[in-house]
Amino acid sequence: MTTSQQPRVQWQGRWSFLLAATGSAVGLGNIWKFPYITGEFGGGAFVLVYLMCIFAVGVPVMMTEISLGRRGRGSPVDAVRRVVNESGRGSMWSLVGWMAMICGFMILSFYVVVAGWSFAYVWKMLTGGISGTGVDDMVAVFTANNQNPLNLGFWSTLVTVATMFIVGKGVQKGIERSVSWMMPGLVLMLLLLIIYGLFSGGFIETVRFLFAFDAGSLSSAGMLAALGHAFFTLSLASGAILTYGSYLPKSASIGRTAIGVAIADTIVALMAGLAIFPAIFANGMDPGEGPGLIFMSLPLAFQSMPFGTLFGLLFFIMLSMAALTSSISMIEATLSWLCDNKGLSRPQAAWSAGIVLWLVSTLAMLSFNIGADWTLLGKNFFDWLDYLTSRLLMPLGGLGMVVLAGFVLKNETFRDELSLPPSLYAVWLFMVRYVSPLGIVVIFINALGLYQVTITADWPWLLGILVVMVVAGEALSPRIGRASAAR
Ligand code: PHE
Repeated sequence: MTTSQQPRVQWQGRWSFLLAATGSAVGLGNIWKFPYITGEFGGGAFVLVYLMCIFAVGVPVMMTEISLGRRGRGSPVDAVRRVVNESGRGSMWSLVGWMAMICGFMILSFYVVVAGWSFAYVWKMLTGGISGTGVDDMVAVFTANNQNPLNLGFWSTLVTVATMFIVGKGVQKGIERSVSWMMPGLVLMLLLLIIYGLFSGGFIETVRFLFAFDAGSLSSAGMLAALGHAFFTLSLASGAILTYGSYLPKSASIGRTAIGVAIADTIVALMAGLAIFPAIFANGMDPGEGPGLIFMSLPLAFQSMPFGTLFGLLFFIMLSMAALTSSISMIEATLSWLCDNKGLSRPQAAWSAGIVLWLVSTLAMLSFNIGADWTLLGKNFFDWLDYLTSRLLMPLGGLGMVVLAGFVLKNETFRDELSLPPSLYAVWLFMVRYVSPLGIVVIFINALGLYQVTITADWPWLLGILVVMVVAGEALSPRIGRASAAR
């Protein structure tokens, strides 16, 4: 039985959705991954392509998800089913909702392990910092932290419990209240870290590294990385934004909010770069260190600077909060589904989802120690979760969303939800019908390693396909529109 007859909870504060959705978007993706891939793929030129991806694909997809959520007023599964019913289309389409919800749960199962590293480093900084004289010592600290399953398990369990504690308290008292202090706190800490970086001596080099436009260094792999990262960093196709959208009051403007989230997310990513790299450069380290950058090079860099332990502590507190405001969004879809369909209270739903999450994430955690060689096709459990979500479920789910919006559902649904001026509505429709699907299919093909798309060489094909899609789509859509309108 559903309890959806009751009016759905809504965000209380005017800025709550923006804060919560930005909290979801801003996470390990921004603070760890964005600065690093920016360095790897050519700095300023990469940033430009990334911005284009965020605004041309990410924002339209986010608008679609928020609209679906607000229209269907439910978890991804229920909301998509309702909206699909409203348009008189087959219930098979609710698979898109299932996929998003499962994807969010799976991402969380390995995200808590990474967030656990961050929590562990807060503790290390609190209890006297990390001592060591070279990168090797830092590697040893990081490895030691992972090798003991009881230690690593303790931290990922702590993240799981913290996440469930917040969401268990409900949308307003849990999520809304926690993001209302964690998000401003996060921005404040980042600002402090940037100011600190200003005095470390590596600031000019950082600005050059992040913003110098070197078109020659932009590879097609970089373009694809930019597109893929746009999805992950905006928390798309994982049920998070859709579910948060289901609590959005009817009066809020979806377009403006989506653009606000995208801008805030981008600013935080750039700020994170400005906060992290000065210390790295000032100490003559390699910015392309990868996963180790934050956990190995950074503590070492901070250590050789005045007040290094204090700022290291600040950094890992900030990272832990960013991870937590993302993790609560990943489980909210599941929670909403459990409450609406299984008649559970918020705390009951939180603890039952938490137990399952704990079991799955424990397996993921074991990939760093005793389960390191429990592999299938060369990947351990942690790698599989990462691979299946970011390479398969996210692109497929995103494709499902835009196909639903562009071709399957009645136009009125989105006209009504988005309530944009006709010209802007036409831009949104063009993006979700043609640009986003093509972009997603390209990432998908590349990600699966089926064919290495090189944009410089393959662009005539891609353009040709886009033209064929537009012609076919426009010829087909009046019929689709009529068919659905007639029902
Ligand atoms: N956007 C988050 C980050 O950048 C990750 C995330 C993915 C959050 C999917 C929610 C859903 O770290």
